[in-house]
Amino acid sequence: MLTLPLGDTLTVPTKSMIESVTLASVGDSVYNEDSDTLALEQKVAELTGHEAGLFCVSGTLSNQIGLRTQLLQPPHTVLCDYRAHVYVHEAGGLATLSQAMVSPVKPSNGLYLTLEDVVENFIEDGDIHRAPTKVVSLENTIHGIIHPIEEIKRISEWCKSNGIKLHLDGARIWNASVATGLSIKDIAKYFDSVSLCLSKGLAAPIGSVLVGPKAFIQKANHFKKQNGGGIRQSGFLARMASIAIDENLPKLQYSHDLAKDFADYAVSLGIKLECPTDTNFVFFDPKANSIDPNLVAKLSEKYEIKAYGFRFAFSFQNSKESVERLKLLTKELLELSEKAPAGAPISNMTYYSGVQK
Ligand SMILES: Cc1ncc(COP(=O)(O)O)c(C=O)c1O
Repeated sequence: MLTLPLGDTLTVPTKSMIESVTLASVGDSVYNEDSDTLALEQKVAELTGHEAGLFCVSGTLSNQIGLRTQLLQPPHTVLCDYRAHVYVHEAGGLATLSQAMVSPVKPSNGLYLTLEDVVENFIEDGDIHRAPTKVVSLENTIHGIIHPIEEIKRISEWCKSNGIKLHLDGARIWNASVATGLSIKDIAKYFDSVSLCLSKGLAAPIGSVLVGPKAFIQKANHFKKQNGGGIRQSGFLARMASIAIDENLPKLQYSHDLAKDFADYAVSLGIKLECPTDTNFVFFDPKANSIDPNLVAKLSEKYEIKAYGFRFAFSFQNSKESVERLKLLTKELLELSEKAPAGAPISNMTYYSGVQK
């Protein structure tokens, strides 16, 4: 059986990206002497409408040094969604690198943070018992959900008028742009800093770019070096990433279509989804379905799909045939679960799935 990876962090570089490395520059990017890296940083800065860009090895690094640069002196707090990658999945970086408290907020609409959520959970400066909110960090898409631009605009205007910095974990801003028809710039303009991942749906082998004002990026570069993120000959990585933006961004819609097709199928079987399928993610609701997520892992071997739980992420490198196999897996999953319903629900927060092959 032909095996293909399902999952947007499981993407691999395309032939044209790999072939391009023979033409890559070989300057030292630690000294800002690598032309391909500088060109990529400039390209993403222009795409987002920000002054400068900084190529980083990972989204974790670009988020964390971005937030570290925005946060000047503790005590301070970052307000974000309770599911935010910067809070849940970056190894406590906010505590160690920024000495920051976090206010993890559950969106009152169950989907994305609103201005009302922000205002309600905002900690004002002045009360010596508390750590004031200095940064609001949003994520778009979050769990595949699009943060509506009107809401981003409201939050941005409020942050500006209250002296609060607004950061975006834009690991999947590409997907938000493709799904809404808004340009990357139209989304990024509301933020003081944005981290954009290249190694997910776009299929670059490595990397993210942090964008913001020039002085901010200079400082962030200091933290990048401090955290061991300086890369010497990064030209071939930057060149592959640049091609990934040019060639693969238009292919993201296909991954959204696969997700929608799978979501519709799951719903037709009676499965409840945790959230709408706006882009390339499908989440089964762990509370509303009596399905044992361990069964997903077991069945994944039979159907040659690497899956662990209730989160299914799609990329342009997935074949339609592999999604058909995922549907067969899902059907059998339901049949088995009807015979032996699962016990206590397992949260999607702790039981993620990457689907492969
Ligand atoms: C929303 C989000 N932000 C940031 C990251 C971090 O990216 P990296 O794995 O490159 O550190 C990820 C990784 O999956 C992510 O999903």
